Amino acid sequence: MALIAVTKERRAGETRVAATPDTVKKLIAAGFSVTIEAGAGLSAAYPDADYVAAGAVLAKNAKEALAKADILFKVRGPEADEIAALKSGTLVVALLNAYVEKDTAAALAKAGATAFAMEFVPRITRAQVMDALSSQANLAGYRAVIEGAEAYGRVLPMMMTAAGTVAAAKIFVMGVGVAGLQAIATARRLGGVVTATDVRPATKEQVESLGAKFLAVEDEEFKNAQTAGGYAKEMSAEYQAKQAELVSSHIAKQDIVITTALIPGRPAPKLVSAEQVASMRPGSIIVDLAVEQGGNVVGAKAGEVVETANGVKILGIPNLPGRIATDASALYARNLFAFAGLLLNKEGALAPDLEDEILKAALVTQGGAIVNDALKG
Ligand code: NAI
Repeated sequence: MALIAVTKERRAGETRVAATPDTVKKLIAAGFSVTIEAGAGLSAAYPDADYVAAGAVLAKNAKEALAKADILFKVRGPEADEIAALKSGTLVVALLNAYVEKDTAAALAKAGATAFAMEFVPRITRAQVMDALSSQANLAGYRAVIEGAEAYGRVLPMMMTAAGTVAAAKIFVMGVGVAGLQAIATARRLGGVVTATDVRPATKEQVESLGAKFLAVEDEEFKNAQTAGGYAKEMSAEYQAKQAELVSSHIAKQDIVITTALIPGRPAPKLVSAEQVASMRPGSIIVDLAVEQGGNVVGAKAGEVVETANGVKILGIPNLPGRIATDASALYARNLFAFAGLLLNKEGALAPDLEDEILKAALVTQGGAIVNDALKG
């Protein structure tokens, strides 16, 4: 019976966990056995006793959890102590952030691990249930609005009271992928007047269907900005200049700006300049969700609230899903449970078919080497 180990996340501020008592039960029903490092779920409000009740075996540390493991499930890439404890050939499944964390991939290769990056799972229909980028981005988009609203010294909805009328907040969402769409929906629910922009034409209708207004430079380049995989291309300098001009006058009138723009494998595009930040009114808030990928906003700093000379706050909160760790873990653990189904053959034995489209795309290291084309050259 294939043994899955789940260890405690070791990165500073990582509160999520890769399995919940619910998914442990499901994994066991599917034919796996599960070992969990003591305390692994605590920061996400899943106590050890619940894992044990679900059928997991508790290990007192990572070394013990990994000693016999065939598979390691993690949220983030494993650390050196965990990699050192892996048996050669162990399957590792995590959000490896492989484009950026090259050292982790190299260490996993050296240890002889067969590692899969959850962020590389392709966006095909069969893999929707394993789409961890979406499950986490959706929560990040929600939380960005909550954080923005909390930092904002005013209310979001229009209020007509005996003491006077309070205007609704103007909220501008830049980048309308999964996170941006949820940010729009959440901001609308809280009563904001919402506008949004993106470079992919398909987003226009999505924005409008959520009751927000769309704003973008809709030229020839815009019409071709979406790749076959559904992602944005890096836009030309000319397009970015036109885009900046269009949004400049708009940004100056916004109360909360939420930026979510990303291009896979590239630094985040810079969408908000220092001048645009300076044009905003005192008390305005910017939430930069791309801060860990270099940031969309000039001046944003990961882990900091930067207050500019004109009284604008730029929130650079890393790991927004980690601020709603219980739900973020539950959804990510479900993604992993679905992924685990690809690792067994019909007889229930551990035999991942590396020719499977999903496994092939997600595979990062195998047989001592980095094997993913996206990471070579
Ligand atoms: P992402 O996180 O890679 O990027 C966020 C957004 O930033 C994207 O909408 C992108 O177009 C936008 N962006 C990039 N450069 C920009 C710029 N210069 N200015 C303004 N916006 C810019 O995107 P995410 O959330 O991963 O979604 C990517 C695509 O995948 C979307 O088409 C989404 O609908 C699709 N998708 C498909 C799924 C499926 O079919 N299974 C599941 C989830 C997403």
